[in-house]
Amino acid sequence: MRTWQTPLALDRADPAPLSVQIARALAARIRAGALRPGAPLPSSRALARTLGVHRNTVLAAYGELAAEGWIASDPARATLVSRDLPPVPRGAAGAPGPAARAGFDLPPAPSDATWEALPPGTLELLGGTPDPRLVPVAALGSAYRRALRRREHLAYGDAAGHPRLRAALARMLGEARGLAVDADGILVTRGAQMALSLAGRALLSPGDGVAVEALGYRPAWESLRLAGLRTVPVPVDARGLEVERLEALAAAGAIRAVYLTPHHQYPTTVTLAPARRLALLDLARRARLLVLEDDYDAEFHYEGRPVPPLASADGAGVVVYVGTLSKVLAPGLRLGWLAGPPDAIERLTAHRRFLDRQGDLAVEAAVAELFEEGEAQRHAWRTRRVYAGRREALAAELGARLGGALSFRTPAGGMALWCRVAPGIDPGAWAARALRAGVAVQPGRLFAHDRRARPFLRLGFGRLDARELAEAVRRLAGALPRRGQRSGASGA
Ligand SMILES: Cc1ncc(COP(=O)(O)O)c(C=O)c1O
Repeated sequence: MRTWQTPLALDRADPAPLSVQIARALAARIRAGALRPGAPLPSSRALARTLGVHRNTVLAAYGELAAEGWIASDPARATLVSRDLPPVPRGAAGAPGPAARAGFDLPPAPSDATWEALPPGTLELLGGTPDPRLVPVAALGSAYRRALRRREHLAYGDAAGHPRLRAALARMLGEARGLAVDADGILVTRGAQMALSLAGRALLSPGDGVAVEALGYRPAWESLRLAGLRTVPVPVDARGLEVERLEALAAAGAIRAVYLTPHHQYPTTVTLAPARRLALLDLARRARLLVLEDDYDAEFHYEGRPVPPLASADGAGVVVYVGTLSKVLAPGLRLGWLAGPPDAIERLTAHRRFLDRQGDLAVEAAVAELFEEGEAQRHAWRTRRVYAGRREALAAELGARLGGALSFRTPAGGMALWCRVAPGIDPGAWAARALRAGVAVQPGRLFAHDRRARPFLRLGFGRLDARELAEAVRRLAGALPRRGQRSGASGA
């Protein structure tokens, strides 16, 4: 087997023979866990060439190591690290090599730094998670192969994104969402998450306040905080963000920006009322606020006409619009964008260049082709029908099995139901029991700025088909805390 070159530091002034130095150095690497049991070692000829020594010197070292049990030969006569060695824990006492802990002081972690892996077989009733089984992988795969044949897609390129994808997105935003934007007004990012992070760094200054919906989307808040910004919680009601409260915050200089999800508010799914849309745009214009509009699931509106984004009504250049292909195509592609006034996009692109240089041009070109050929549009139509059916299926299952425990209004769009939990039931305890029963749900506390319990569950229907949704609801019902266990301090 071909192996990597293995450089070892040999000291010709050392009185120890070179073969002994080689054996010592390799044994030390094995002890430290750098060379693991079963790892192939270079042939004696190759190692001799790398080290500039005679092959017999390496053969002598290998002989010594084999005699001590460090290495062995396999039937194909390759030399391997012995498989019988006990595994070496990283940073084990006495072992040289990488330490188990940083030897410097770590600053505080972002509060959502750890994501718990779900046990295998868990059904995910998680808000906003699309179904990867619906992704048009054949079309995407052949477009990607075509994109890779163009070698320039493997080189450094435009930090703002592949020009074809920017043009395709600009066209889509004009036709489907009413934005008057051209390719220069778009920066392709790795998902909405990078877009939000960039906006926080490039368009605001450390210490600035950003009004955020509370309840709201914690990953966005964390991005803004990591940019040194202060998040200022503003309540949400049945008509979306309480825009009336922003006036006083702006007048006091407490905010320089507003981050919101006006189409389907995250997590409550309500749509920002028309009067509030106008009031927000008017305030932003007067107070020179940045409006960071996160339109993460624009495609998924099932009833009536989709509501156009705030950005489509922005004549003052105050809205920077964040979009993503994570819902309509696949989150693993990591494709999102920022759209806004060209000078703001230029500033954002300058920051992106120093954060991530550029995106994956081959993937961007492949996805651009899906848009150009109409495949992305067909996929959006197909999946909209599928998700509308799943919304009905989940609503029916919940009504049939959990009518007394959960109440909800079927939302006009999105990928999740926002359910009020009946008094006396602790949503946090229920979610924990549900996870043990094999279904993952999100309790209200996860969306609260103050992290305090709220009597809600957010139940996503995107990831599961109708049969799986029925099973997930059966498990959720089975995990309902019995009377007496229902209230508690564990929080929602
Ligand atoms: C409110 C909100 N914004 C953005 C996103 C998408 O993030 P990304 O494009 O980074 O996958 C999500 C996904 O869950 C979301 O819920």
